[in-house]
Amino acid sequence: APKPNGTWGENVTVEFEDGIAWVTLNRPARRNAINPGIVWEMNAIMDALEADDRCKVMVVTGAGESFSAGMDLKEYFRATDSVPPIERERLFRANAAWQWRRMMQFPKPTISMVNGWCFGGAFQFLVASDLAVASEDAVFGLSEINWGIIPAGIVTKAVVEVMSFRDAMYYIMTGETFTGREAADMKLINKAVPAAELKDKTRDLARTLMGKNPYVLRQAKTAARFVKDLTWEQAGDYLMAKSDQTEFRDPENGRNTGMKQFLDDKSFKPGLETYDR
Ligand code: ACO
Repeated sequence: APKPNGTWGENVTVEFEDGIAWVTLNRPARRNAINPGIVWEMNAIMDALEADDRCKVMVVTGAGESFSAGMDLKEYFRATDSVPPIERERLFRANAAWQWRRMMQFPKPTISMVNGWCFGGAFQFLVASDLAVASEDAVFGLSEINWGIIPAGIVTKAVVEVMSFRDAMYYIMTGETFTGREAADMKLINKAVPAAELKDKTRDLARTLMGKNPYVLRQAKTAARFVKDLTWEQAGDYLMAKSDQTEFRDPENGRNTGMKQFLDDKSFKPGLETYDR
């Protein structure tokens, strides 16, 4: 298996466009199944993008007709059945890192743009990204049951977090596919749009996010992740501490600027728009 070397381009491409980093899984002939090459390259990409000013929002998508056909059964599973356990664990750990652990804590907003097939392991980064937009006719499935495994990694945890329990159980147990439109109805994703509009609508969403104070946006999304597992009392204390940290560290001093523009200058309405940055 390829070893981490801090570069990319063979299995994943990155294109910068006005603040958006379009990260494209690029194994269309394998329906963008996740092989070790993608794992190492995605880790290197996230290392680079978190510190690259050309990336204000990261969009993850797939080349060709597929978002991602899940884990590569040949290169990720079969090929690692016979390697020393520690090597396999290292690969699996690196995969968990990019697909959910780091994705959930990525300092910049992340959007999954689901352009086609989305199966199994692909649900990890689908759910761990902050927002998700799909083409109406994209096809999703928890196909694990169809080939004799349970949705492992963190897939089962991810789907019971974001889907209703009944929906999650239904698709875990039947392995049936569902469309982007159905995924939006079930709130697995934010919205489904016609395929021809997918990129434009995703760009619009990214631009909305880019209009916000980036430090506050990071704090807000991190807080939303953590409060889910806290009690009300803990959340109340944590959020006030997080809010103080945000005010203290925000390089833009957004809170005071926003307050001034509303109360003193009367130049904007916070209910309706973002303050003038
Ligand atoms: N792992 C390994 N190879 C794959 C994968 C995969 N997950 N998905 C597709 N490929 C390969 C196929 O073996 C095929 O290889 P070949 O050209 O050497 O025959 C090639 O990609 C093209 O795939 P086709 O099946 O021919 O493409 P088609 O468009 O007809 O079907 C589909 C696409 C429905 C996505 C199908 O490939 C499929 O069912 N893939 C597996 C999906 C899946 O269940 N993934 C695992 C989820 S479970 C998990 O991730 C833990």
